[in-house]
Order: sequence, then C-alpha cells, then structure tokens
Amino acid sequence: MADAESPVSRGAEASLHAVEWLGLPALRKERETKSYRPKNLDERLKRERTRNEVRLLTEARRLGVRTPVIYDIDLPNHRLILEQLPGSTLKELLDAAPSDPMALVAPVRSLGVAIGRLHAGGLSHGDLTSSNVLYPEGPSGPPALLDLSMGARNAGVEEKGIDLHLIEEDLKAIHPKGPALFRSFLDGYGEGNPGGAAEVRKRARDIRGRVRYS
Ligand SMILES: Nc1ncnc2c1ncn2[C@@H]1O[C@H](COP(=O)(O)OP(=O)(O)O)[C@@H](O)[C@H]1O
Ligand SMILES: [Mg+2]
Repeated sequence: MADAESPVSRGAEASLHAVEWLGLPALRKERETKSYRPKNLDERLKRERTRNEVRLLTEARRLGVRTPVIYDIDLPNHRLILEQLPGSTLKELLDAAPSDPMALVAPVRSLGVAIGRLHAGGLSHGDLTSSNVLYPEGPSGPPALLDLSMGARNAGVEEKGIDLHLIEEDLKAIHPKGPALFRSFLDGYGEGNPGGAAEVRKRARDIRGRVRYS
C-alpha cells in the first residue's frame, strides 16, 4: 500500500492519491484549485468536470468500454474514489517499445475498437492521449479509458474528429512508427464504429489541415 499522503500523480487538473476502499486498492482523484480563476468559476468548473467524469465513466461502461469502477463520489469536495487498475498506460508501452513496434499493433488496434464503440454510442473522450489509456489485462487485452472529464455525451462529428486528431498527434510525437500505429488504430476504429468511421476520419483530416495552416 502506497503512502496515502504522497500523490501517485499530479496533473494539470487533478491529483491522485493511493487509498484503500473497503480493503481494495483505490485512487482518490481530486481536482486542483486554480488560483488564477475567480473562485466562483473555479468551484463551478471543478464541480462540472467531476460530475461529467462520473457520467462518462458510467456511460462508457454501459457501451462495453472498460473504465475504472467509481467507488465513491464527493461532489462538494470535487473528489472521486476510483478502482485502481493494474497495468501500463499506452504512453508507457510506447516509451518502452521504440524498437519493437509490432508489440504495439495489438494494443493500438484494440484502442481503436474501444474508441469506435464509444463514438458509435454517441460519446467522445475529450482528451484522448496515450496517458489516458491503460491495459489492465496486459497489452493484448482490451484497454480501459481514464480521465473522461472533458468528454461529451451526444458528441458531434467535430468532437469525435478531435479525438482521432489528438491520438494521431500523440502517437506521432512519441513513437517513430507513429503513422503506421495510427493506421492500426484506424483499422480497429472502423470495426468499432462501422457506420460513422468514414465521416469522422474525414473530419479528423480537416481538423489536421486547419491546425497545420492556421
Ligand atoms: N483508475 C486508475 N487506475 C490506475 N491508474 C490510474 C487510474 N486513474 C488514473 N491513473 C493514473 O494516473 C494518471 C493521471 O490520472 P488522470 O485521471 O488522467 O488525471 P489527470 O487529469 O491529472 O490527467 C493516469 O495517466 C494514470 O497513469
Ligand atoms: Mg490524464
């Protein structure tokens, strides 16, 4: 059991502490106060993002996409207690296997399937980077999605296109075989979202063009 007082992670928005929940390994995710934001706005944003994360974690599970179980919700304090999943993040896999890209094809493809299912069910992730994807059953098993506080329900083609754009950028920034890995992702994506893949892929290309020439 890790020291309950030392954060296991401190990101831009939240800190995570290892805790126990009825004897199970868990993480307490707590939104950080931003002193540059007016206090009322800060409170509202933290509450809304915590609430949004709860909704999306739950709805993604309903679509058959793995997410950490929510053990407890403390909205006034912007805290969630989440199941602590084992395994490596996609970021860790990418960093560890630069010379063996074949080992990354399966995890990247299964991520594509999961994001396809999420999109086909009307959700977007909102912050789809390799740090927000974890493989609890190992790299050959299905991924779990983390950090859904920026996601949308009733997501449109733009939000879905942004998801594809973000993961493409991240794969290319981290791994020399990023372009090939993104093609494997898209292969899985087509399987998960057979009805919508063409339109979302087109939008992702448009977004890429907009970013490049702006
Ligand atoms: N339920 C979980 N189980 C295991 N590790 C987790 C879990 N949630 C988060 N993490 C780890 O903590 C990191 C930060 O968590 P995240 O929810 O993405 O917060 P942030 O908003 O700070 O990015 C993740 O990249 C992952 O490594
Ligand atoms: Mg994150």
